[in-house]
Amino acid sequence: MTSPTTTIEVAPDPAAVGEQVAARIAAIIEDKPNAVIGVATGSSPEPVYRALARRVREGLDVAGVQWYALDEYLGLPAGHPQCYRSVLERVLIEPLGADPATLHVPDGPVQDYEEAITAAGVDVQLLGIGENGHIGFNEPGTSFAAVTHRATLAESTRRANARFFTRLEDVPTECQTQGLATIMRAARIELVAIGTRKAAAVAAMLGEVTESCPASILQRHPDVHITLDPTAATKLSTARR
Ligand code: F6R
Repeated sequence: MTSPTTTIEVAPDPAAVGEQVAARIAAIIEDKPNAVIGVATGSSPEPVYRALARRVREGLDVAGVQWYALDEYLGLPAGHPQCYRSVLERVLIEPLGADPATLHVPDGPVQDYEEAITAAGVDVQLLGIGENGHIGFNEPGTSFAAVTHRATLAESTRRANARFFTRLEDVPTECQTQGLATIMRAARIELVAIGTRKAAAVAAMLGEVTESCPASILQRHPDVHITLDPTAATKLSTARR
């Protein structure tokens, strides 16, 4: 279904979600070889990165692209396998054969990151969505006006991310994240949601625009593409699918 600002597509399975989103990102890179691409971490974007890597093997040239991460944990030692710089090097930079220097992560002063990403100008921002409606690590209640900032992770987010760590106690409590205002400055948004556990957040994102559901701010963005697998779409009215 298409509204003036938001396109929602339901792909048959996660691999097809990845293919569809990667095709649109590849088109942006072909059109603008020095594109600036905002990238997410976690499970949702992985099919997109796999599909992009296949396109690179087939000839897509990403040498001129700059990659800007959404967020980074605080408190993990540098080089920890779960810090988002390490994760993005593993799932994005290495499979694409990109230069690690083209990956930017908010792991220094937040003002510096905000200035750098503003100067770069994001052409497309890839997003997942938390079960509580967060985007980046902007948890429910975060101001829509927030720029890149230090934040505390919701307990539900720590529990959701514990699957990447040995124990819940190992999941950091703090992070740095692009703010909602930072994300909204991207020229285009590509949001991916996969799995039944995302269905309620996807429905809430398309309901009332409220700081209680950070992703709902995307309804105010002029160019949003939402790509779902069928299980993430189960709480949408049939009119929206
Ligand atoms: C990750 C991020 C988060 C995730 C969200 C969904 O950089 O900013 O907002 O996109 O928590 O995570 P997954 O995809 O693992 O379910």
